[in-house]
Amino acid sequence: MKFQTIIEPFRIKTVEPIRQTTPEERRIAIEKAHNNVFLLKARDVLIDLLTDSGTGAMSVYQWAGMMKGDESYAGARSFDVFEKSVRDITGFTHVIPTHQGRAAEHILFHSLVKPGDIVPNNTHFDTTRANVEDAGGIALDLPIKEGTHAQSTHPFKGNMDVMALEETLERHGDRVPVVMMTVTNNSEGGQPVSLENIREVSEICKRYEVPFFIDACRFAENAWLMKTRDASLANRSARSIAQEMFSLADGCTMSAKKDGLANIGGFLAMNSGPLALKCRTRLVLTEGFPTYGGLAGYDLEAIAVGLNEALDEDYLHYRIRSIEYLGEKLLLAGVPIVTPMGGHALYLDAKRMLPHIPQREFPAWALSLVLYVEGGIRAAEIGSVMFGRRPDGSEKPADLELVRLAFPRRVYTQSHVDYVAEVVIHVNSMASRIRGVKIVEAPPVLRHFTAHMAPAHGRLLA
Ligand code: F0G
Repeated sequence: MKFQTIIEPFRIKTVEPIRQTTPEERRIAIEKAHNNVFLLKARDVLIDLLTDSGTGAMSVYQWAGMMKGDESYAGARSFDVFEKSVRDITGFTHVIPTHQGRAAEHILFHSLVKPGDIVPNNTHFDTTRANVEDAGGIALDLPIKEGTHAQSTHPFKGNMDVMALEETLERHGDRVPVVMMTVTNNSEGGQPVSLENIREVSEICKRYEVPFFIDACRFAENAWLMKTRDASLANRSARSIAQEMFSLADGCTMSAKKDGLANIGGFLAMNSGPLALKCRTRLVLTEGFPTYGGLAGYDLEAIAVGLNEALDEDYLHYRIRSIEYLGEKLLLAGVPIVTPMGGHALYLDAKRMLPHIPQREFPAWALSLVLYVEGGIRAAEIGSVMFGRRPDGSEKPADLELVRLAFPRRVYTQSHVDYVAEVVIHVNSMASRIRGVKIVEAPPVLRHFTAHMAPAHGRLLA
């Protein structure tokens, strides 16, 4: 007998209480937070789907590993454990720990990019873009056209447009110091990249002699989606698929806060010795000595274990299924979402849910506020507040207006997901009453984190 119910493949040993609040309390809290969910106190949030980054629950094996942490300044045993784990999965020669993903990006781009250089990516995540631009480079997104269509059913919407990449290298090859590929493609809806696409990009980069790096934050989820959506990979393990993916690249940046199943950490890994030397020199200035790179010995231990647990197939099956499960419920109720469902998050399509709100009034942002007030759910806008400001200061609406319900790993159970579905369906039913918002003040870079916002027409709901 093969039972159908997919269970959480863990039991719960420690619990963390969460607090119910009333809509009235939440209205006050969000006003105090300048209508920006990033500025809320976490204790005022019931279900926190702001990010899947650093918010996961660690396993008993990770906690046990932390007790073994070697806190020596140099040459700690914990570094060897960490290095071995990263090497076994990625195959890269040089492994450089960093305190999180963006530190790896900062070091890589400041070691490679000169002012005026171009860095192509399927789609840059916001910190990746900001770090390329901070180094004086131009962050060029080359998604396939299906990637920017919320309703396309392409199984690998995260792919890069290889023709556009080739054209870019043909015309500006001497200005391209590195090509990046983000797996899964977070900014286009957590959509996976196909192994075929990675092979093609790798081959083009080799031909033009440009280093190819993977932004590997969600490599395990991408590997699982490759296995389940590409029939030729159905019999392969997620681990061997991940290994093949890395074998096609020259290096990677990683935020261990995602598929490292850790609360903090990251790394930079690569095959080039001269580049590794440059990166380590910068690492010492900003992060720390090369055997700890801004992390405690116990963090290195937690990541070493977490990277392997992220490739466990019972875990991956449950993880991807819980997002699909929510997506199926929402689709059945007619809620507009990005399909197919992504790896780490479900994305609400605010353009379709709120067609009466023009993009200059940030429909996805408004939706994120209403989700909080109505149900205590915190979720992030991935739209024109996040992406709408050009480096020259002008505004350009984002391709998509999404609200991302990102799921922390191993934290919420099926009843939490059922509750989220109920709240989202309720909010969808009141969509015509939701009104737009405006920016009151915002910094020039990564403005969504700290922007002060306000209803554009006096009130959020008509
Ligand atoms: N690249 C991608 C694709 C990411 O999603 C993130 C972080 C980073 C790089 C940077 O890593 O946070 O460790 O510095 N994404 C988080 C998110 C913040 O919510 O999607 P970091």
